[in-house]
Amino acid sequence: MAVSSHARRVHRGSILHFPRSTNDPANNHQYFADGVLVVENGKIAYFGEAADFFSLADNQRLLNYGGVEQHKGLILPGLIDSHVHFPQIEMIASYGKQLLDWLNEYTFPTETQFANAAYAQRQAKWFLGQLMAHGTTTASVFATVHPESVDAFFSEASKLNARMICGKVLMDRFCPDDLQDTPELGYRQSKQLIERWHGNGRSLYAITPRFAPTSTPEQLAKAGQLANEHPDTFIQTHLSENIGEVAWIKELYPEHPDYLGVYQANDLVRERALFGHAVHLKDREYQALASSGATISFCPSSNLFLGSGLFDYGRAKDAGIALSLASDVGAGTSLSLFANQSDAYKICQLQGLSLNPFESLYLCTQGAAAAMGLEQQVGNLNAGSEADFIELDFRAHPVLQQRLLRCKSLAEQLFALSTLGDDRLVDKTYVAGKLVYQKGSKVCGLSSTNGLPSLSSGSI
Ligand code: GUN
Ligand code: ZN
Repeated sequence: MAVSSHARRVHRGSILHFPRSTNDPANNHQYFADGVLVVENGKIAYFGEAADFFSLADNQRLLNYGGVEQHKGLILPGLIDSHVHFPQIEMIASYGKQLLDWLNEYTFPTETQFANAAYAQRQAKWFLGQLMAHGTTTASVFATVHPESVDAFFSEASKLNARMICGKVLMDRFCPDDLQDTPELGYRQSKQLIERWHGNGRSLYAITPRFAPTSTPEQLAKAGQLANEHPDTFIQTHLSENIGEVAWIKELYPEHPDYLGVYQANDLVRERALFGHAVHLKDREYQALASSGATISFCPSSNLFLGSGLFDYGRAKDAGIALSLASDVGAGTSLSLFANQSDAYKICQLQGLSLNPFESLYLCTQGAAAAMGLEQQVGNLNAGSEADFIELDFRAHPVLQQRLLRCKSLAEQLFALSTLGDDRLVDKTYVAGKLVYQKGSKVCGLSSTNGLPSLSSGSI
């Protein structure tokens, strides 16, 4: 293979990924201590051992001409966050409430601001900069009820050429008036956004009923109609996160067997449907999720922060449900999918399961892509996939670095990485082959605060 044209870039370093979907990520990874990734026109043209690649004379010449980008850290596929709320980044770490009160007290007032298109644009840009700084190159993102917030998000994601999923929240009851649409208006606005954005560049649309309590039965029926009219769109919502929420569903929808049953009756449970949380499921719901091809986004940091409960990872996996990992910021307290792997491990430990570190990394790379039906595009470093990848620099985290030096296996190193890792480690983020973030350079739209803003006294 001759690699000489300018459109091609050669990246050399230690590289890890999962080339295919599997139930056993520990035995289905590919790791090259000295590997090569060749990027051409935004896609991966070659992936393999450096020794194999440079054994060919044409490729050897690249070394001589300095045409190789040498990476000192670990190269991984760009991380995938399967459930996150971009308007909530500014209210992360809000004190003292569980889900329903947290929504009323903090979330809804925050989301009201996104009626202002300029505000939404600024926040979308800043949020995307933060995703890149955390090594997340694909995310399934909730906007707000305002269509402007979706336009803002996709227009900023398009500037980065990032593969992003987003949708306008559908919500027509039990929230402030200025956050409500109607079944008809929500349908029409969503349809226009699908036509504008779904498949436009790397953007993909998710039909986004917030959760069953804040939609009337009429609105859920319209969401299902949209899902049937646009079968290749995503669906994203929340399911059985909190005990009080599940009890409320019983009151609101007594005719349905359980929470998932409400979504099923409205044609919202299918492949490409991403259900956040699923902490308090009944037997029937596990089975119905598995047979439908719908997926669960495990949101460990959020579940701990809001005191929602312990997701039964082992049970969901054994049921055959496609799973992925998600930050659920602003209820989650970190955009870092390493921090979320750490919380996932602890949640599993509390239930007698030691989550394998290959598995937790899989859940935010290839596993997430497979759950979403995007494994031909992202989540791995296979030739033909889109060239989204990150480079980690362990020198940025001395405690982790010294721990890694004492590890005796890749599994042990990965476990230390998944337990101690965070955004400090992300040195470079590439999207479609292009460097979009480099540590130390200015993150888009980010301004620093020296010290704290002026504060008043009082309790939280
Ligand atoms: N359920 C309904 N809306 C939300 C939200 O914004 N965050 C979380 N964590 N759960 C929800
Ligand atoms: Zn959420």
